Formats: sequence, C-alpha cells, structure tokens
Amino acid sequence: MREVGVGLLGLGVVGSGVWELLARNRDFLARKTGVRLTVRKILVRDPDKPRRARVPREILTTDPREVLESREVDIVCELMGGIEPARTYLLAALRQGKHVVTANKAVLAEHGPEIFQAAESAEKGLFFEAAVGGGVPIVKTLRESLSANRIRRLTAIVNGTCNYILSRMSEEGLSFEQALREAQERGFAEADPRLDLSGRDSVHKLAILATLAYGSFVPADRIYEEGIIGVDPQDLIFAREFGYCLKLLAIAREEEGRVEVRVHPTLIPEDHVLASVRGAYNGFFLEGDFVGQVFLYGLGAGAEPTASAVVADLLDAARLILSGARPTPILFRESPLSLKPQEEVVSRYYFRFSAVDRPGVLSQISGVLGQHGISIASVIQKGRTEHGPVPIVMLTHEAREREVRQALAEIDRLEVVVLPTKVLRILEE
Ligand code: NAP
Ligand code: HSE
Repeated sequence: MREVGVGLLGLGVVGSGVWELLARNRDFLARKTGVRLTVRKILVRDPDKPRRARVPREILTTDPREVLESREVDIVCELMGGIEPARTYLLAALRQGKHVVTANKAVLAEHGPEIFQAAESAEKGLFFEAAVGGGVPIVKTLRESLSANRIRRLTAIVNGTCNYILSRMSEEGLSFEQALREAQERGFAEADPRLDLSGRDSVHKLAILATLAYGSFVPADRIYEEGIIGVDPQDLIFAREFGYCLKLLAIAREEEGRVEVRVHPTLIPEDHVLASVRGAYNGFFLEGDFVGQVFLYGLGAGAEPTASAVVADLLDAARLILSGARPTPILFRESPLSLKPQEEVVSRYYFRFSAVDRPGVLSQISGVLGQHGISIASVIQKGRTEHGPVPIVMLTHEAREREVRQALAEIDRLEVVVLPTKVLRILEE
C-alpha cells in the first residue's frame, strides 16, 4: 500500500470536514484506491483553539515551513481562504515540488494566471474542485466532460449563503440578519461574510467557471457584480405576485463571439429549474452547442460536501504521484476573449418606484421610460397608504442596460418620486 503524505493549511470548517472524511473512510479509500492518504502536519493560527475535529495536538503547527518544506508531505492542501498568505504558500508549495489542492476561489480568481503558470513550470498538479459548487462536480464537468462544447449559456446559483438567506426570507419570513446568522452557524459563510453578501464570492466562482468554459482567463474585475445587500422583503412579495422568485445568479452567455459575465439578484419564473434550488444548495444550468442542456445540483457549502470535493482532488493528486504522469495544464492555450460591457446587456426588468399618490404620476414615469424606448409589460400599483409613498411595480419587455440606467436617473429626479427606484433583472431563457 502506497502512503501519500498530506499537509493541510487550515483546520476550520472545511479542514475539519477533510480530517473527518479521511478518518471515517480511511480503510475504504485505501482498499478502493490502493493509496493511504495520511495527514502529516496542519497549519493553524491558534493550536489551542477548541475544534470540531479531534486532531492530535502534535501535528498542529503555526510554522508554515513545517508543511511547505516537509519531506513527508507530498500534497499541500490549502483550506485557509483569503488572498495572502494563501497565494504565497501555494506558490511556495509548488516551488517545493508539492502537488496542490485548494478550495480557495478568491486566490484563484485574483491570481489565477500566476498560480496556473507556477503549477505548469513545476510540472505539478493543481486541483480546485471545491473552489466552486462545494460538493457539486462542476469544475471537472467543465474541464473534462463538456470540454468539446461551446458553452452558450451558464446560469448558476453558486453561493450557498446567499441562496440560504433568500430562501429563508421568502419561505419563512426571516429577517436578513436572522437568516445570515443561521448561515454562519452552519458553516456556509466566508470568514468575512461580506464576500458572500456583496456578490464577490459569486464573482470569484464565475471567473473560474468562465475561464474553464472559454479557455481564457476571465479577470474578476471584468465581471459585473451586485449582491443581495439591500434586498427588500417587499420585492420578494411583489415578485411572487408576478410568478417569480429571487435568486442571486452568476450568468455567462456567449453570443456572436462575445461573452457577457455578470452576478446579480435576478427574478426567475417559479417553474424554472433553478427556482427549486433552495437553502445552501447550488445549481448549474448549462447549455453546450452539442450536449444541449445539462443541470447539476447539490450542496454548495458546508463541511461534508466540500470535504467530498477536496478529498477527491487529493486522490487525483495521489494518482499523479503513483503514475508519475505529467499533469494537464489548466488551460490548453490562452485564447483571446471578448467580453460584452454590462451597459450593452439586454434584459427584462422589474422596477419598484416609490411615488407620491397623486394623479398623473404613472404617466410621468411611463413617459420617461417611453422616451428611452423602454416598453412596459405589466404594472401594479398598490393601494393608498396613510403616510408615505405608494409603490408602483412595473415589469418591462427587453431593454438595454444603458437606456435603463439613463431612464431611471431621470425618473429618480422627478419631484413625485421620493425614494431611489428598486431595480431587479428578470431571467429570460
Ligand atoms: P475557516 O473556517 O475560517 O477556516 C480557516 C482555517 O485556516 C482556520 O483553521 C484558521 O486557523 C486557518 N488560517 C487562516 N488564516 C491563517 C493564517 N494566516 N495562518 C495559519 N492558519 C490560518 O474557513 P473555511 O470555511 O474552512 O474555508 C476555507 C476555504 O475553503 C476558503 O477558501 C473558503 O472560501 C473555501 N470554501 C469554504 C466552504 C464552506 O462551506 N465553508 C465551501 C467551499 C470552499 P485557526 O483555526 O487557528 O483560526
Ligand atoms: N461561502 C461560500 C458559500 C462557501 O456560501 O457558497 C462555498 O464556497
């Protein structure tokens, strides 16, 4: 039986899940693969912290060199998160001749080319299935199984925390803060949950997916980003009246040689397959030019599903070690990719105007929309309130983002409009 030494960087939610999986399935995995994965050292910040995983104190260290430079470690598995020192450690591990597994989408999305290049130069494997989709095998699906296709559309729920919050708010009436607290308690959220809520975590994941789908590195900063901070429960209720639910979507679409990449809260029809993706689940709805439609679904966050992906990567790395084969580069070749600016993206829209209750208001608003060529599909105006503005909710036909922004800037300056207009895009498939 071949022993392969593993060094973990981090023993938090995911690291503990990996430790538990390796302990519980140790004999089964050894029988199945002929390899025994043995964790030799684990880097943490505080070795005395109480932990979910029962790990012998002597394999914990606060010195990264005990993992990165250890002759007993064949695979370095980075489960710390964040950009630095994760980037430095990943590069150092590759320079030391280690194969690398990481669940860190942030560092790959922000420093992908440097890390991909370092792996290629070192001729070592770089595996990152857990960086997107938790336990859902979307990375391998795009890299391997669907690699012959042009990916026309990818519409995905990639952030378990945001999906959990939106589900709990709309289904159970929880407040945003209550739902976030629950997501944190269950280990779904990032150490800094603003990454989830701002949409940044979804942007990082979309950058990785689009890079794999189109064969060219897609920088996170070129992806349109809008998160769920400020989502108002009122809009979840109005959306339902129109037959929609709200999801934070990551979208990539290829049309006429240009690719649009965007993350934003989106209204989707209640009978759309992604509407059934609830709680911490992720869903990936893909359309390839030859394969047609493919849907992948599963838990996108949490210790166990993420450990499932990490350990599968450890086994892939062990296979490389056993066979002595050269790893395949992440990208075949950098090919130029033309990204569509967000202002040119066409979508249907939901607007909620907050206006004074006075005759002629609706015609003023629709007049401005008409001047910008934005056509209204349906309107509901809610009844009078004793105090404050009345909500006027409109759904539009397809409109270009540039015209929408111009029209809304004008509408929000109207004397009869008292609060900034709430805007949501509507998914058209
Ligand atoms: P976490 O619970 O915050 O754990 C982070 C671990 O890294 C802790 O053990 C911490 O040590 C250690 N660490 C952090 N910075 C360190 C430093 N500078 N030096 C030494 N040790 C350091 O995070 P997590 O939720 O497990 O996430 C880990 C990674 O997996 C992140 O990249 C995340 O995005 C990704 N991921 C998470 C999930 C999920 O569901 N949580 C799913 C998929 C991917 P101490 O314990 O001593 O503080
Ligand atoms: N914070 C992330 C999420 C973890 O909620 O999806 C999984 O990447």
